[in-house]
Amino acid sequence: MKAAVLNQKNYKLEIREVSQPVLSESNVLIKLKVAALNHHELWSLQEKNLKSNSNIIMGSDGAGVIIELGDAVNNFKIGDEIIINPSINWGFDKRVHGEKYEILGFPTQGTFAEYISINQKYAFHKPKYLSFEEAAAFPLAGLTAYRALYTRGELEANNTVLITGIGGGVALFALRFAVASGANVYVTSGNDNKIRKAIELGAKGGTNYKKNTWGSELLNQASGFDVIIDSAAGEGFIELTKLAKPGCRIALFGRTAGQIPMLNPSIIFWKQLSIHGTTMGTDEEFKKMIDLISTKRIRPIIDSTYPFEKIIDGFEKMESGRQFGKIIIKIAD
Ligand SMILES: NC(=O)c1ccc[n+]([C@@H]2O[C@H](COP(=O)([O-])OP(=O)(O)OC[C@H]3O[C@@H](n4cnc5c(N)ncnc54)[C@H](OP(=O)(O)O)[C@@H]3O)[C@@H](O)[C@H]2O)c1
Repeated sequence: MKAAVLNQKNYKLEIREVSQPVLSESNVLIKLKVAALNHHELWSLQEKNLKSNSNIIMGSDGAGVIIELGDAVNNFKIGDEIIINPSINWGFDKRVHGEKYEILGFPTQGTFAEYISINQKYAFHKPKYLSFEEAAAFPLAGLTAYRALYTRGELEANNTVLITGIGGGVALFALRFAVASGANVYVTSGNDNKIRKAIELGAKGGTNYKKNTWGSELLNQASGFDVIIDSAAGEGFIELTKLAKPGCRIALFGRTAGQIPMLNPSIIFWKQLSIHGTTMGTDEEFKKMIDLISTKRIRPIIDSTYPFEKIIDGFEKMESGRQFGKIIIKIAD
């Protein structure tokens, strides 16, 4: 089969012929139609930190059709349309994943391939209202947004929510989910056009984080925030603690803007802030995310679709930060 394999000498992806994955008894073999890109893979390409003696096939997001069933598979049949939960081996503690946790794509072979063999517990029926492209956009980013917003952010209806860097894949799902849940949502972006697009999608306002005045501008628009969803960290995080209302929950899932410099402890304890780290989500949260999107008929925002052979172009677009929404890779019709 064709797969985008990581060349471990120069850390570039190369489309190569590799052997088809082997089907074990609890697995389903899926012919992938679509994959999607995540920043997580871009970090691995940039930081050159993946090493293995066998082919590394990256990719966490995917949707396709079951073509073969392991002997112990009882929930699926051949021809079922599937999306994959890429949050593998979470473990028993819903507060934090265990030591065996991994994100699909390393070391377990991922979705940048024509076929994937995956344990049936990570296969979910594709909601019928979604195309394969739309379905493949959801798994990693949708799950991360779900846990950040509901489990860690403890979102309540009528809460005022700030989502930073709205051009990002996870951020846009957080916007979709929060608006569908009746929250008042504000955003930041480094691009005014993306703020305008977010307002068309239901945000109440927003400001450009490249301006020195972004924090005060947000306070003029909303009088503080009950929930803040942040993937940037960096210096801007200090401003977030100032924008937080007393009792605010800040859910942090990324590091796009780097280390957080000095935080003021008085702000944190006097306002009784909760700063929650969050990563991906549990099996149950993935199921709840699928239930939420199916009930509310939520669709992803797709920035662009690239043919499999052009997957590197997709990553270049992500690196440039020009995208608004998910970058999709078409593998087969
Ligand atoms: N912990 C987890 O489970 C988890 C899961 C998914 C992602 N992540 C991490 O979360 C981050 C975003 O991932 P993604 O896949 O959504 O990435 P993405 O689609 O590539 O989006 C990255 C976004 O970061 C925003 N950004 C850049 N500089 C910023 C700044 N100084 N302040 C605020 N926002 C800034 C940009 O927003 P604008 O274009 O609007 O300026 C950009 O669109 C990455 O660091 C990724 O590794 C973590």
